[in-house]
Amino acid sequence: MSKSPLIDKYDRQLTYLRLSVTDRCNFRCYYCMPEEGMDFAARQELLSFDEMYNLASLFCSLGVNKIRITGGEPFVRAGIIPFLRRLSKIPGLEEITVTSNGSLTSAQIKALQEIGIRKINISLDSLDRERFFRITRRDRFESVYASIFQLLESGFGVKLNCVVAEDKNIQDIIPFVELTKKHPLVVRFLEEMPFNGSDTFLLPQWSHREIYQHIQDHYPGLEKLQSEPTSTSVNYRVPGYKGTFGIIPSFSRTFCGTCNRIRLGATGEFRTCLYGPPSLNLRDLVRQGASPEELEREIRVAISNREKDGFAAEASVSQKRHESMSVLGG
Ligand code: GTP
Ligand code: 5AD
Ligand code: SF4
Repeated sequence: MSKSPLIDKYDRQLTYLRLSVTDRCNFRCYYCMPEEGMDFAARQELLSFDEMYNLASLFCSLGVNKIRITGGEPFVRAGIIPFLRRLSKIPGLEEITVTSNGSLTSAQIKALQEIGIRKINISLDSLDRERFFRITRRDRFESVYASIFQLLESGFGVKLNCVVAEDKNIQDIIPFVELTKKHPLVVRFLEEMPFNGSDTFLLPQWSHREIYQHIQDHYPGLEKLQSEPTSTSVNYRVPGYKGTFGIIPSFSRTFCGTCNRIRLGATGEFRTCLYGPPSLNLRDLVRQGASPEELEREIRVAISNREKDGFAAEASVSQKRHESMSVLGG
């Protein structure tokens, strides 16, 4: 990399791009989108694979070394596997990871291995079929659960993301931790965030503190683990257990000080913070014929205006309706 890296005015280097390849999903998780009436983008509004590839290459030339493929559900987009194969050859890109709902991964395991993808994060909020249905509005628990173990057996590093909510899945917290007894999984408990595609959101009753306290009440000897400085999760192990668990203060936003993430939405919105408005639309610039130099200049301006944290970014959003996480890119 010969160009100077992307560094904001708080001295945070942006090395991790979250790339949403589609806003569509075959699930309807209550915390992400309404059951009906989602207004998905038309095909021509989506970044094409060529556009995504060119933008990803540009970001990697500016120091991005990790790309997470998100959605919506990444595997609902036709042509995703050849795209990932192309992406994997970009110079400077050290790691590609995927966040998925796990319903369509089984069929892709071999292809992902061949491409060199080694880690996958699966959203799973309950270990009970009925609660799973109430949360996702789809009766797919068995296949998602089975795919987790297929991934583990195939050698993938697997993290489970579990959004915690009072009336939905508190009963599942301890069984999730127990899952780490025999399986080398990472289970992460997330605070609920307002990104549900509506204008209603109640402050989460279960913050990272309550989640930790609940788990600690069951396992007094928890071992705190060292985590990467840029980690979203604070991580622990129950002594003797094969796997580990983490807590992500996604709503409390305690990790903004070391945040290395930028986001490119499926229709081209570039965000420097999950809680903030899009800084610019890269698809529009590309389609207006902007050169790589012009795109780079715009990206650098956006980074120079990056807010200090998710609270400051949120304060700069005027609209009341919260975008769905599927639009923001997870
Ligand atoms: P790893 O790369 O495996 O550490 O995963 P990750 O946490 O970066 O990605 P994942 O897609 O699994 O995201 C899990 C959750 O972390 C998201 O659903 C959010 O709740 C939270 N999260 C990720 N990035 C951000 C961020 O920039 N801000 C906030 N507030 N939460 C985030
Ligand atoms: N609050 C917290 N987490 C959310 N996710 C999606 N919407 C929300 C929300 N409103 C999580 C999913 C997935 C990750 C990318 O984002 O569970 O694991
Ligand atoms: Fe789909 Fe993920 Fe949103 Fe659930 S959280 S509806 S799985 S995109």
